[in-house]
Amino acid sequence: METTVRNKQVILKHYTKGFPEESDLMIATALDTMELKVKPGSSAILVKNLFLSCDPYMGTFMREPDSGSSEVAVETLPLLDAFLPGKPIAGVGVSEVIDSDDPGFAKGDFVWGIVGWEEYSTVNSFGRFRIDVNIDVPLSYYTGILSVTGLTAYAGFFEICSPKKGETVFVSAAAGAVGHLVGQFAKLMGCYVVGSAGSKQKVDLLLDKFGFDDAFNYKEEPDLNAALKRCLPQGIDIYFENVGGKMLDSVLMNMNVHGRIAVCGMISQYHIESKEGIQNLPVVIYKRIKMQGFLALDFVDRFPKFLDYVVPYLNERKLVYIEDIVEGLENGPAALFRLFQGQNIGKQSIKRGKRINPKFNSSDAHFLWFCRAPSIRIAMGILSWFTGSPKPSQPETTKTEIIQTPAPGMNGAIEVPRPDRATVFEFGSVAATGDRVTLAGYCPVSDDLEPCRWEIVPADGKDAPQFRVVF
Ligand SMILES: NC(=O)c1ccc[n+]([C@@H]2O[C@H](COP(=O)([O-])OP(=O)(O)OC[C@H]3O[C@@H](n4cnc5c(N)ncnc54)[C@H](OP(=O)(O)O)[C@@H]3O)[C@@H](O)[C@H]2O)c1
Repeated sequence: METTVRNKQVILKHYTKGFPEESDLMIATALDTMELKVKPGSSAILVKNLFLSCDPYMGTFMREPDSGSSEVAVETLPLLDAFLPGKPIAGVGVSEVIDSDDPGFAKGDFVWGIVGWEEYSTVNSFGRFRIDVNIDVPLSYYTGILSVTGLTAYAGFFEICSPKKGETVFVSAAAGAVGHLVGQFAKLMGCYVVGSAGSKQKVDLLLDKFGFDDAFNYKEEPDLNAALKRCLPQGIDIYFENVGGKMLDSVLMNMNVHGRIAVCGMISQYHIESKEGIQNLPVVIYKRIKMQGFLALDFVDRFPKFLDYVVPYLNERKLVYIEDIVEGLENGPAALFRLFQGQNIGKQSIKRGKRINPKFNSSDAHFLWFCRAPSIRIAMGILSWFTGSPKPSQPETTKTEIIQTPAPGMNGAIEVPRPDRATVFEFGSVAATGDRVTLAGYCPVSDDLEPCRWEIVPADGKDAPQFRVVF
């Protein structure tokens, strides 16, 4: 193993004004070499970063602190310090410990916490958490459902909104990382759940995969108030706010007396010069609405309770979790800006390592995993289609079948019988009808697929029009 490296990083070129752009970041390899050792006595750990989380707040941190500091909570200031021109940006990451001066961490441990957007980071004691590899999920989950994203959805919904069975819940940006979890937590609670999202594909997912009762594409609704009245004629008891602006104004008109609004985010307002005014705020008085902003950070002490809540649902396949993963640090800037263009579905993150949770058995997983590289539009889905059905035993022999895609070249579509177990698809899209599954797109090779029992990989391992089906 190397003892020194030149660290590849995603650098903030300059402070941004207005809407951040991909070109505000650049990929650079450090001129100086970095020793893969921590300083004795530093209590630090040196980690190799495997997955990096893309989060909307990162766009706001790229602005000069003077102009944006009023929007930054004191608790997040240590993170803001990382957003300096010429330095790598930082966020939640999943990493492997390479060296440690902290007796609590050993080489080979997996951790999640705040790291730089770079190949290797030295992490001090602020915000680092050990990953329990015995929890049978991919490591990437610790950028999302099993870290800040999941805690945000859990705390915002349960702690701020105090939901009751039978109540009506509306979630904006509902097909996003936080939103698709909130909607499912609300369904598990026995609520009536409606979501809004910015495309038909997302609306279909809300209805077909996440179990929302109703959903609408806000971009195609000329009158949001009317859309809310149509989907929630009985009014809204709980609003999980992710977007702000016109949506919030329309929601206020539809809130029920003693309703609760968890103000989690306002992504529509983050990068516009003059924020949209809210016209209907007096409703908060007349309807005695509780409206509270919060940060996931406020609820770090609930993390163990949150894990106790969410892990059994994952194990029992009662939660569908979607990841939208871009491969390679060099595609990180593009991945981050997908959030602001609404291109992501579920949790947006970046994969840069080849490691998987050593205990992860994908056949027990229940989630969708879309994996995209912007240049080649890879999509990878790991689907468990049969919630609650008995698990088939591991086949003893491997059968290989060559399927020809209809069109030559790297993109194509094939239809295969619906598999009877957890499945890996490395394709742009997956659609199921009856006992057939249609897969379309491009197929990469990934080490992460090793533990899967049923997988489709390119016949020659590259841009091939053929796919080998192994089952
Ligand atoms: N309070 C906290 O501690 C905390 C923690 C995490 C996240 N958040 C906030 O929670 C919200 C969701 O975060 P996330 O990580 O789950 O991101 P996300 O929902 O996965 O991604 C952002 C989504 O926002 C939507 N969007 C983007 N621009 C928009 C606009 N101008 N108007 C309306 N919708 C827009 C897009 O979906 P569509 O295609 O549907 O438009 C996009 O996919 C954000 O506001 C974020 O800042 C807060």
